[in-house]
Amino acid sequence: MALIGTTISEAINQLRNNALVAIPTETVYGLAANALKEEAVLKIFEAKQRPFFDPLIIHLPSITSISLYADLNNKKLQQLAQTFWPGPLTLLLPKKNNVPSIVTSGLATIAVRIPNHSVTLSLLNQLDFPLAAPSANPFGYISPTTALHVQKQLGHKINYILDGGSCNVGLESTIVGVEDDIVCIYRLGGLSISDIESVIGKVELKINHSSNPKAPGQLKSHYAPKKPLFIGDLEELVNQYKNKKLAVICFGDEPKIKSGDVVFNLSRSKNLKEAALNLFNYLRIADECDSEIVIASFVEQTGLGLAVNDRLQRASVSTN
Ligand code: TXA
Ligand code: MG
Repeated sequence: MALIGTTISEAINQLRNNALVAIPTETVYGLAANALKEEAVLKIFEAKQRPFFDPLIIHLPSITSISLYADLNNKKLQQLAQTFWPGPLTLLLPKKNNVPSIVTSGLATIAVRIPNHSVTLSLLNQLDFPLAAPSANPFGYISPTTALHVQKQLGHKINYILDGGSCNVGLESTIVGVEDDIVCIYRLGGLSISDIESVIGKVELKINHSSNPKAPGQLKSHYAPKKPLFIGDLEELVNQYKNKKLAVICFGDEPKIKSGDVVFNLSRSKNLKEAALNLFNYLRIADECDSEIVIASFVEQTGLGLAVNDRLQRASVSTN
């Protein structure tokens, strides 16, 4: 099992030795390694069982530190960086040669983010290399939002988990890039489309739902519990699966359940920020409890609700 602690110098020692360290961010916990050392980055792919075609995000402490690794020349992306960093925003930028191509799966762009977490910002400020860090979960499973989640899933594969408490966004960063001078969103996340459009105007959505995506990460099945998850009208689903022991994930209104079923309400007051914060944790508890299947309803399809519904959709059993 990994050691869980709050000692930044220990994390630095491990990272300098090319070892893996789990780090807290405001979105989800990351599984970090020195992004400039191929040998270290390789360990991330091995520990997560992640396919090499799925590129990683590098994490840096400041906008000024980016120019060594990527070009932040696009004016609109600069505006987003200045407005939302540190925060749940990842930018796809032209990559410079000093980052090994294993990080970007050979792509000419590199994903860059400045996370908004005091512990990790302090860590990054003391390093002279960026941290490559995907979410700290086995590939395809639910992302971790506490140190203990990381320990349970990957503790046997890493040396140190830097504990920064519970993540306060709870969903991954929103991924934004540029194609033919048009700003595109590739993954919905902790920063809403309207937040982004309020700064730079209309953007295009390029959310991939195929099972063989061009820009990976948007795999159709992802963030998934081990049990089957069905999404729809909860009263109908409760009726349809009345012979099964249910874990119910709802938003506000709760369906009538039979004894033995359990309910996880993402937000009784229908607050989307609260729903985003609770989603991965509730999916995880629903997966761990003694129910046979999980049923859920979508939340309101506005603001952060788009990202919550995107994760629910990908976590669910395909119906097409
Ligand atoms: O909030 C987050 O973004 C968290 C924390 C730890 O920072 N990280 C995270 O990383 O969610 P990961 O690896 O689970 O998701 C990164 C996504 C992947 O879906 C990957 O395909 C996409 O970013 N990505 C990375 N580099 C890319 C690139 N150059 N072009 C297109 N997609 C890219
Ligand atoms: Mg992930």
